[in-house]
Amino acid sequence: MAKQNQLSVLISAILLVIIVSVSETLCRPLGEEHLLKQHEEWMAIHGRVYKDAAEKAKRYEIFKENVKRINAFNDGKDVGYKLAANKFTDLTNEEFRASYTGYKRTPNRVVSSMDAKPFKYANFTAIPPALDWRTKKAVTSVKDQGGCGSCWAFSAVGAMEGITMLKKGKLVSLSVQELVDCDVNGIDQGCGGGLMDSAFEFIKSNGGLTTEANYPYRGNDGTCNSAKTADHSASITGYQDVPVNSEKALLQAVANQPVSVAIEGGGFEFQFYSSGVFTGSCGTNIDHAVTAVGYGKTSGGTKYWLLKNSWGTGWGENGYMRIQKDVSSKAGLCGLATKASYPTA
Ligand SMILES: *[C@@H]1O[C@H](CO)[C@@H](O)[C@H](O)[C@H]1NC(C)=O
Repeated sequence: MAKQNQLSVLISAILLVIIVSVSETLCRPLGEEHLLKQHEEWMAIHGRVYKDAAEKAKRYEIFKENVKRINAFNDGKDVGYKLAANKFTDLTNEEFRASYTGYKRTPNRVVSSMDAKPFKYANFTAIPPALDWRTKKAVTSVKDQGGCGSCWAFSAVGAMEGITMLKKGKLVSLSVQELVDCDVNGIDQGCGGGLMDSAFEFIKSNGGLTTEANYPYRGNDGTCNSAKTADHSASITGYQDVPVNSEKALLQAVANQPVSVAIEGGGFEFQFYSSGVFTGSCGTNIDHAVTAVGYGKTSGGTKYWLLKNSWGTGWGENGYMRIQKDVSSKAGLCGLATKASYPTA
């Protein structure tokens, strides 16, 4: 009898423990602990250090919201592309847009170096069904603008590296910092933003651009090192704008050389794009610039442009984005067919 009592007490105790632990698991806000751990791991990976506990708490809240939104997107209907946490995960979309884009919208364009002849590829018809300038060794490795609004300089330099390779047969990484530091007497304002066409203007009037090795990227505004700008490792004769609102004209241009492209790239889905063909929601509020370095079609038949970005290799497909091509809007997805241009050499 005593033994039976002991046994039932023991069973009750075990049951109680099970009930308590189950209810504890159910009542605890699931995932909070996991997210805190995820934030710590993310901080370590990205070398993020916060100035105090309050800042860390604030950043954690933003991180958490972004991760939840990314997971909800990825768990939703398959739309052909995915998002992922990246180095921008502790930034609100407003903060991200303010620091990591940099295309300066302006009503006036400076056109003194613009090639006045008609669009030079207008009659070009020998367009390959797919093209990736990386495989032709006309694209340098992905760069990282950091928290500096210098996308315009990266976009222009990417296109210039391409035409230089096509004309001279040598792929050389060219200096973005020279544009940031030295192209400051017109529209362009270094980390404060700029335009690819005015970068081409500067390069033309300067007589060329030096190499990345000679004038490396720092990611902040600084004084122009004029001793270094005397080196003209690459030069251009001017530039042309791709006819506006025509993905067909853009195709003719990209089939011939890497092209500078302006885009609305400040949205949430752009911030966290990780793979697939981007078909996301964006308008034509141009705020960012990239370099179009190819195009193609997926096995599923989705046509895309291949864009080289300047947010490091941790963003997108190793720093690149595939974005839907030939959309119903003439402006192209995210306005990519509205402000494209390329240097001539
Ligand atoms: C394209 O072809 C038309 C008709 O032959 C010609 O008038 C025009 O100059 C050509 N454009 C270019 C850029 O070669």
